[in-house]
Amino acid sequence: METCMAWIGSGVSLFVAFSFLSFLFRRIFLERSYLPQAGKVVVVTGCDSGFGWDTAIRLVKGGSTVIAGCFLEKSLTALKEAVGPSLADQIITLRLNLEDDESTDAFVRDIRSYLDDHDLSLHAFVNNAGLFAAGPTEWMSRAHIRRLFQVNTVGAMELTNRVAPLLAEGGRLVSISSVSAVVHGPLLALYGASKAALDNFHSALRVETERPFSVHLIMPGSFKTPLLNPTALRANITAGWNNAPESVRQDFGSRYFETFTSNWTEGVVHYASNRPSWVTDNVLHAIFAAHPRARYYTGYDAIFLFSILSFAPTWIQDAFHRRVNRRFFQSPEGEKVSMACFEKPLASKPKAA
Ligand SMILES: NC(=O)c1ccc[n+]([C@@H]2O[C@H](COP(=O)([O-])OP(=O)(O)OC[C@H]3O[C@@H](n4cnc5c(N)ncnc54)[C@H](OP(=O)(O)O)[C@@H]3O)[C@@H](O)[C@H]2O)c1
Repeated sequence: METCMAWIGSGVSLFVAFSFLSFLFRRIFLERSYLPQAGKVVVVTGCDSGFGWDTAIRLVKGGSTVIAGCFLEKSLTALKEAVGPSLADQIITLRLNLEDDESTDAFVRDIRSYLDDHDLSLHAFVNNAGLFAAGPTEWMSRAHIRRLFQVNTVGAMELTNRVAPLLAEGGRLVSISSVSAVVHGPLLALYGASKAALDNFHSALRVETERPFSVHLIMPGSFKTPLLNPTALRANITAGWNNAPESVRQDFGSRYFETFTSNWTEGVVHYASNRPSWVTDNVLHAIFAAHPRARYYTGYDAIFLFSILSFAPTWIQDAFHRRVNRRFFQSPEGEKVSMACFEKPLASKPKAA
């Protein structure tokens, strides 16, 4: 019995040591060799701001040609101006609205024409465009839910299906997921669900059949980009609240809404990272590294908290989230702010069946 236990112990130790050494070998040697960047064509969506803008500019400066999908008309020229006249020919800016089928069709058509006209192949597609939503799910109207899923999930999947066949042998399909896809952050239910669906879609693509390209997911934690700008965030939450049914707003009450909105926006300002370039570093690694990773957890919160939490038993994850959640519903004096319907006198509360 003792010999058997010793054998098992040695086997486990060897396995752990081998896994750790192969991890180090991969990180230190394999992941540091790169393909040449010059002359490669990359499609990036959501290039108006944030990670998409930064990725497009860094790609062009590194010698690649970028076909940039921009939601707003003004971004078409702004991006070209940002790279400067000497590099402007290396960036092709196209309108893309993932809520509009015709816009998606035109985007794919124009990518095809560009590649055919210049006799080029596509090296990478970066699926980056996305929307954010925070707050209790009841606040989200049908239109709000549909828009979020149309952009983050349905539109992104459809575009992937159309652009992926254009990828060359050894090409890269990179999608900006989120840690919200793997941990069920409270008050992020819809955003998390939209990213979880996209995450699963790309993970399945990675393994389901033999394809000439590889698939990579970027899993950022919180980063200060226009998506999490406090004013935009407040406007985003308020739009959801204003469109919620009157009965829902009465149940929650304006004090609950105000407390959540202020605490949430302050929390993001406090905790979100000032280094969005870490995300772009990983996008570029996924595009050009000779041995890219399947998943890139990005940011201290993503690496040291959420990726670990995602493996914890559900009760631990729930306890953690409940604890954090409480902070969003505390008045500046530290008093708990409840939904208005639970603050009514007991007699008016609905009776249990
Ligand atoms: N920032 C974070 O902490 C964080 C964390 C995890 C994941 N992410 C993900 O990272 C990606 C980029 O976000 P970001 O932080 O860089 O924010 P961002 O600056 O708001 O970028 C989102 C991009 O998507 C575009 N977009 C919005 N609606 C669109 C539509 N209907 N069709 C096509 N494009 C549309 C936006 O255009 P406009 O600027 O004109 O609206 C913008 O260019 C998103 O998928 C987001 O979910 C971000």
